[in-house]
Amino acid sequence: MGKGSEETSASLIDQAGVTQSLELTPSTESAWIEVIHKMDSVYADLVHYQVELEQKNSALEEAQQFIGSVLSSITDVLIVCDTEGDILQINPALENLTGKSTETFVNSPISEVFSAESAEMVDQFPEKMRQGSLVDCEVSIRCADGSGAPLAMNCTPRYNRDGGLDGIVLIGRPVGELRRAYEELNRTHMELKQTQQQLVHSEKMAALGRLVAGVAHELNNPISFVLGNMFAFRRNGNRLIEYISAVDHHSGDPQTLRKLRQKLKIDHIIKDMYPLIDGTMEGVERVSDIVQDLRRYSGSQKEELVRFELVPVIRKAANWVIKASRIKPEVNYQLLEGLEIKASSGQVHQILVNLVQNAVDAMSDQAQPELTLACEVVADEIKIHVMDRGPGIAQQDLARIFDPFFTSKPVGQGTGLGLYISYGLARDLGGELMVANRTEGGAVFTLSLPAQR
Ligand SMILES: Nc1ncnc2c1ncn2[C@@H]1O[C@H](COP(=O)(O)OP(=O)(O)O)[C@@H](O)[C@H]1O
Ligand SMILES: [Mg+2]
Repeated sequence: MGKGSEETSASLIDQAGVTQSLELTPSTESAWIEVIHKMDSVYADLVHYQVELEQKNSALEEAQQFIGSVLSSITDVLIVCDTEGDILQINPALENLTGKSTETFVNSPISEVFSAESAEMVDQFPEKMRQGSLVDCEVSIRCADGSGAPLAMNCTPRYNRDGGLDGIVLIGRPVGELRRAYEELNRTHMELKQTQQQLVHSEKMAALGRLVAGVAHELNNPISFVLGNMFAFRRNGNRLIEYISAVDHHSGDPQTLRKLRQKLKIDHIIKDMYPLIDGTMEGVERVSDIVQDLRRYSGSQKEELVRFELVPVIRKAANWVIKASRIKPEVNYQLLEGLEIKASSGQVHQILVNLVQNAVDAMSDQAQPELTLACEVVADEIKIHVMDRGPGIAQQDLARIFDPFFTSKPVGQGTGLGLYISYGLARDLGGELMVANRTEGGAVFTLSLPAQR
């Protein structure tokens, strides 16, 4: 065999020029040529395979380099495990976070990566993986400095060519920064809410202050007639005492006593006594009612829903505002006397006071200010309309009139919170507050409340 190949190579070398010098029969010659052709084609195949292999190799290197660059540019943590939960591959993001190299982690269990408090949960990942993927579970990575870095972790199963479970892929997004930002946002939000509450409270106090002037007027009337009655009582009392002592001294002289009785107007005093007492009691009751209303109005706590008559509340709200106001509009009432509603009378009162106050403010330049307060029952709602003859509301303001701090009044005169608060109160009562312009000029605010509950 060894000899044969030597001969073959000799004939190969000689093939170009000296074939004829070797005495070959035509049949051996053609056999040789065939062998040579075969070898040529095998050689060409070899060269071809080598080129192909080199190309594949460089493509593989490129792909590896590409995957490596992708892996290192991923800021999320990536961990690839087998079905037992042993680490096969990690990305540089995890190396940076933990300060350990890939080699340290490869083949160790995934719990190595996590803080003690998360390790137990992480150990269950392979088991859970068999039931499906895990989304956004919160775990904590053990950092280089010993602290824990919170991650939002997603785990998905990894399958082999045949569709069998081959392991799990964990992708974790560091949420420490996000959480800090969220906490910061939350704190700012709380502060804002607090400021808003303070402002709402101060608007309430301002409104209360305005009302006190109206209430003072209201109180003035009953108190002054109670005071007048008391003066009358004292005067009458003095006369009665004088008469009684005369009765004691002149017991036997009816003529003198009759004259004195006429002079001191004792009969008149007796006739007047009960009306005076009734009037006084009525006055005191009015004072007590007003004080009670005031107390209810200033109460900040949520009130119970009670059944009450609506019309007196509407009238009272209008009276309180108008009594305290410089402008005295003509008030038209179109009310349904006796109409009852279940709501919080204090809150309904407060909304109406705000609406009437705004209506009065809007008519401050009007020569003949006119206010209409109407109520109606439409389907299952009671609607209360507060209508004025002011300038109405500009189209662009209609959409933002209930926004907090929207005001057209100069600084110090308006806070822009009256309607915002009223809107919230109406909602609290299960109702609604709406605004429109009247075709005849002016604005109409409508408070709708449920008629039945
Ligand atoms: N009846 C009304 N007619 C015209 N404009 C009104 C009326 N009621 C409210 N507005 C407008 O809505 C704004 C907001 O009202 P409000 O929330 O009560 O705050 P404030 O009265 O403190 O300005 C007012 O400044 C005014 O421009
Ligand atoms: Mg207002």
